[in-house]
Amino acid sequence: MGLQQRGASVLVVAWSDGVPVGSAQLDLRTDPFEVKNLHVDERARGQGIGTALMAEVERLAAPASRLAVGVGVDNPRARALYERLGYRSTGQESTTTYEYVDAHGVRRTATETDVLLMKDFPAGSPL
Ligand SMILES: CC(C)(COP(=O)(O)OP(=O)(O)OC[C@H]1O[C@@H](n2cnc3c(N)ncnc32)[C@H](O)[C@@H]1OP(=O)(O)O)[C@@H](O)C(=O)NCCC(=O)NCCS
Repeated sequence: MGLQQRGASVLVVAWSDGVPVGSAQLDLRTDPFEVKNLHVDERARGQGIGTALMAEVERLAAPASRLAVGVGVDNPRARALYERLGYRSTGQESTTTYEYVDAHGVRRTATETDVLLMKDFPAGSPL
């Protein structure tokens, strides 16, 4: 059974004219909950879709008092978006190596260093 079926994770999808153009995952297994895999179709970027996905993730996470998100140290664009929304660096870095299948079906390995960002939601604040 997948994480979503077990209630361990929620997938949020953004639609435009019936076509999925972006998604984000809210992982409920950790304390605090963690936002993962925020992604917007290249052609649909810069229109506020990433921001809207984050707003929906935050709404779903309520009444959590804080949320975490890891962002690549070489990803200033995503980091700027999170910082604009109030996420702040904890200074905590982690390096992971993972396997993925690229657009041509080729299995590849990638190593990524993430910094952990955190946003606090004061008790009673409307999400
Ligand atoms: C990071 C990512 C999700 C952002 O998605 P997006 O839909 O372009 O995000 P937004 O449009 O909400 O915001 C991006 C910028 O567009 C601008 N923007 C927001 N709304 C806008 C609008 N209506 N019109 C024009 N520009 C707008 C914002 O100024 C914002 O800049 P800032 O983040 O530096 O403040 C997207 O670039 C992406 O998928 N990247 C690859 C995957 C990735 O790196 N994911 C993050 C993993 S941690």
